[in-house]
This record gives sequence, C-alpha cells and structure tokens, in this order.
Amino acid sequence: MDSATTATQTKKAEDASASRESLTITDNRSGKSYEIPIKNGAIRAMDLRQIKVDPAEFGMMSYDPAYNNTASCISKITFIDGDAGILRYRGYPIEDLAEKSTYLETAYLLLHGELPTAAQLKEWTYSVTHHTFIHESIKKFLDGFHYDAHPMGMMISTIAALSTFYHDAKDIFDAESRRKQTYRLVGKMPTIAAFSYRHTLGMPFVYPDNELSYPGNFLNMLFRTTEAKYRPNPTLEHALDVLFILHADHEQNCSTNTIRGVGSSHVDPYSATAAAIAALYGPLHGGANEEVLHMLLEIGTVQKVPEFIKRVKAGEVKLMGFGHRVYKHYDPRARIIKKVAYEVFELMGKNPLLEIALECERIALEDEYFIKRKLYPNVDFYTGLIYQSMGFPISMFPVLFAIPRTSGWIAQWQEMLLDPEQKIARPRQIYLGHDTRQYVPMDQRG
Ligand code: SDX
Repeated sequence: MDSATTATQTKKAEDASASRESLTITDNRSGKSYEIPIKNGAIRAMDLRQIKVDPAEFGMMSYDPAYNNTASCISKITFIDGDAGILRYRGYPIEDLAEKSTYLETAYLLLHGELPTAAQLKEWTYSVTHHTFIHESIKKFLDGFHYDAHPMGMMISTIAALSTFYHDAKDIFDAESRRKQTYRLVGKMPTIAAFSYRHTLGMPFVYPDNELSYPGNFLNMLFRTTEAKYRPNPTLEHALDVLFILHADHEQNCSTNTIRGVGSSHVDPYSATAAAIAALYGPLHGGANEEVLHMLLEIGTVQKVPEFIKRVKAGEVKLMGFGHRVYKHYDPRARIIKKVAYEVFELMGKNPLLEIALECERIALEDEYFIKRKLYPNVDFYTGLIYQSMGFPISMFPVLFAIPRTSGWIAQWQEMLLDPEQKIARPRQIYLGHDTRQYVPMDQRG
C-alpha cells in the first residue's frame, strides 16, 4: 500500500475517531442536527448558541443554577475525585502533604506548581516572614470595631483596606507586583487575624516574631501575654500547620469561584481576596465549622442526638459539617483532621463535645436518609472541636479557614488572570419577568 493511501486512511480514521469525540444534537423543533465537539469530557456552552429555530434568535443556552454541572475554567491546581474521596494539590495526594510537608511549602507548591528547592523555600519563607508586619494605621482601623465584632467581618474590611496602602497592587499583569502582593497577603493574614482576636479581648496587639514558624508566629500573636519570648507548644504548632495544609485549596468552591469572578474585572488582589473571605464566611461554606460547634452545644448530650437527627430528617435543621457538593464519599481531609484531633486532645484534654460528634457521625453513617443523599462528614465537622480545645473562640473558626485558603485563592486568581480564554465573568439569564408595560402615575396605582 503506497504512503499516500496510508496517509488518507490514517486521516479518515482520525476524522472518524474525532467525530466520535462529539455529540450529535437533533433539535426536534426544526429537525436540524448539530455536531458538538467534546474536549476534556465537556462541550463548550458557546457551541450550543448555533441551535436556533429562527436565525434571528439569540440561540440555545444551558441553564445551570449554582453551577451544579458547569466547568467555569480549566485549572491545573487542585484535583478532586468526589466519588473516590481523592484530593491532590498539583498532583500530590493530600495525605502525603499533610504528613510530610509544611503549610508554607504547600502554599509555594499551589502558587508555583512545583515543590520548592531548598533555596526557593528559604527565599519564600524569608519573604513571607518579612511581610508579616502591618502599617500602624491599620491598628487604628481595627480599633474602630466594636468589642464584639465578628472577626470575619474585621478580616473582610481590613484586607480590603490593604488595597488603599499598596497602590502598586493594581499592576495585576506585572509578575513582580503579583509576587509582592502574594508575600503581603500570605504574610499579613495571620497578623490581621491575630490582631482582630486581640481586639475583641481588649488585649494589646502582639507583634510578629520572625524567629518563629508560620503557625508558631500566629500562636505567638494570638496567645502571648507577659512572657518575653513566646514558645509555641510543638504539638499545637504542628496541628495548626497540618490544618492549614488541609485548608489551602479546594478547586472551584464558592469562595474560589468568587475570587475568580471578582478578579476577572481586573480589580486589585486585596479587594478580590476580601470578596473571597466574605463568601467563605457563609454558614454553608467556611462558616460551617462555627455552626457545627453551635449545633453540638445545642444538642447538649449524646442522649439527645437521636432527637436532633429526627429534626434533620424532617428537614427542620441541617446536620452542619455534613455533606458536600463534590465529595459523595468521606472527605479525605475529615479523616486526617480526626487524627489531628486526637493528638490535640491528648495534650489539651478531650473535648467533651467529641462524644456527641462521634454519635452524630455513627448514626448518620448508618441511616438511610444520609446514605441515600451521600452525606458524610466534611472538612468542617471536626475542626471546630480542635480549635475549641486549642483555646480559640467559636467566632475565630472561619478565620482559621481563611488564613490558609489565601494561598489557594491567590493561585486560582493568578491562573485566571493568565488564562487567555478567560475574560470578565458575565453569565446570561433566562428572563421570565414582565413584558414591556407603561408607567403608572401614583394616583392610578392600586
Ligand atoms: C466547605 O465546595 C467546597 O469545596 C467547599 C469546601 C472547601 O474546602 O472549600 O469543601 C468547604 O464549604 C464544606 C461544606 C461546609 N458546609 C456545611 O457543612 C453545611 C452543611 N452542608 C450543606 O449545607 C450541604 O451539604 C452543602 C452546602 C455542603 C452542599 O450542598 P449541595 O451540594 O447543594 O447539596 P443540597 O443542598 O442540594 O443537598 C442535597 C440533599 C438535600 O436533600 P433533598 O432536598 O434531596 O431531600 O441533601 C440534603 C439536602 O437537604 N442535605 C442535608 C445536608 N446537606 C445536604 N441534609 C441535612 N444536613 C446536611 N448537612
């Protein structure tokens, strides 16, 4: 067989297999068929627009409230397999990173795509550590909050206020500027969180100690009192570092979708991060860890769990810390967090609410209502018990989620900015409101 024939046959075979990577859609209204290519297991929603009955029509859209089945981007940062309970940052299993890495190293991995060399990690750690201080004016800003202000409200406002200090942050397409803002955001989140906490206690702010680790310095700024040098407890320091690793990123969750959406207008990264913190604050998202504690306190005793579960099944309340849009099996982070919990309880004493949490989990894992809906403990179910045992007030729990997620948010924001396919996020709608109507003067209104 000559080479020309072979080439033709190969082309035909390629075309045939390529045509198999497609949908054939028949519009029954017009009888017309359309070939829609499939790539990476998805079709482009814009390829639906050609489907019209009348050429003057806008064309077909897909309707997907809450984006249950819509990929908003192509990403290489985090992979989740919800059915298999798999979570990987840049290909590395979360179990390995939680066991062998540190939060700052994991943050570098998320932001740069590769684990750092020793020199890179040294530079990254030095740069973040030397951006932990905040402008003294911000203290006046924090002092303006009421003593019982929720720390998440303080974080949202103060991180947004950082945009007024760093005008160079608007140069979002300048890599050096993005690098500097990244050092500042990753470095200052713990400082602002700790200052917010100290403000609510009416205690003096504790400045960063650059000789301590990232989690160690955070504990220093939170809990140091009269000692000249704060020495973080190594068990708590390690537990916090592991929890920070587990919370660092989680692909296109609500707050990440927010920073991508807000960032797509090309606003500075501080304003975009403040928006992400606001999204995370919600009780269905990062605020769930706070709600879990309120729920366990409301249940009160192990004996009252069955009664509470009855209310959940009647649809009166949710079992906070359970369920997930993606995980339809055990959240792999919850399994690791449970292990960390026992390490902390060993040191700080068992949290009395643990028994209630374990009973909720035991019942839920056996009960048809939860099994049918594939509701398992998620990342927020056990974290609050640990934080409470470490001495954090319940209102600080979502703040402990926002701090580590900052590196994931910035990595996702940067990926969006540099993606040539991305532009300002502006979804369509299906309008079912009034057709045009005349203005009604006041004296003729019903
Ligand atoms: C995080 O997306 C992420 O990746 C988020 C996150 C991250 O790292 O960024 O993992 C962090 O936000 C974890 C989730 C924390 N939130 C909670 O624990 C709040 C409680 N959970 C739920 O509100 C709910 O499970 C969500 C919000 C987490 C997921 O909601 P979905 O996917 O929209 O599911 P749904 O609300 O449509 O529920 C499906 C069914 C419903 O029952 P039916 O209407 O079919 O009868 O399951 C029920 C829901 O009522 N259900 C629950 C439940 N969660 C869902 N019933 C009781 N208790 C719950 N917790």
